[in-house]
Amino acid sequence: MVCMRKIVVTSGKGGVGKTTVTATLGRKLAHKGYKVVLVDGDVGLNNLDVVTAIEKRVVYDMSDVLAGKCRAFQALVSDTQSPMRILPSSKDSAALTAQAFRGVVDGFSEFDFVIIDCPAGIEHGFHRSVSAADEAIVVTTPSASAIRDADKVIRLLASYRLADVSLVVNRVRADMVVRGEMIGAAEIGSLLHIPPIGVIPEDDMITLYQQLGGVPDSAISDRAFDALAANIADKTKVFVDVSARRRLFRRRY
Ligand SMILES: Nc1ncnc2c1ncn2[C@@H]1O[C@H](COP(=O)(O)OP(=O)(O)OP(=O)(O)O)[C@@H](O)[C@H]1O
Ligand SMILES: [Mg+2]
Repeated sequence: MVCMRKIVVTSGKGGVGKTTVTATLGRKLAHKGYKVVLVDGDVGLNNLDVVTAIEKRVVYDMSDVLAGKCRAFQALVSDTQSPMRILPSSKDSAALTAQAFRGVVDGFSEFDFVIIDCPAGIEHGFHRSVSAADEAIVVTTPSASAIRDADKVIRLLASYRLADVSLVVNRVRADMVVRGEMIGAAEIGSLLHIPPIGVIPEDDMITLYQQLGGVPDSAISDRAFDALAANIADKTKVFVDVSARRRLFRRRY
């Protein structure tokens, strides 16, 4: 029997990389052979469809499913870069209840992973996305405000009955960490009392290629996402900081 894992990607602070992590992690898991569906929980400010370049192929969305205009699987759009599927969010379903949202998510029981892209903030949209999940990934960047918001979110998540809460540190600049100008991922993990299962470097390729629907394998962030996907797939908590390894490599030779 397939055991569906429902993972919400959240952060508190906006713009730290939730949608990027959702899309890239989903693709990595799909490439590993898992059946993956992404659900855009960012109702009103949807951009998972843009980041995955499926925008033009969207026919139905979450609100059509709830209105009974189509079945949930009919609303799914195939990704351009991997075998994963995406359920687009509606731009006008702000009144969508947590219960209805959860019902749609639970309907994807034939998938191995449902990954929910949570909106920024801790309002209704946060509650709706989190209450549909069993596990959470909290994304933060090394900025003080993002870490503070991640801390708040981690406290809030404690009141949901989640099987696991993990941490991803995004936009890490190894050169700045070395110079003491940026806090390192391990230290952020200590502050938040959660060891990071993904440390994603700052990578211009992400911004550059995202509009085209996918970042190439040659991007420096790619191996970091591989390590994150391995931790999620295997339910491990291995700390892999690819930028730290590069630093070591550079120092030795
Ligand atoms: N590791 C990275 N290196 C460089 N740019 C990045 C990285 N991660 C994300 N970005 C860029 O940061 C911007 C915000 O990313 P993203 O949309 O994933 O954040 P978000 O948390 O989903 O935002 P929102 O809260 O608005 O939903 C995007 O332009 C994205 O390309
Ligand atoms: Mg987003």
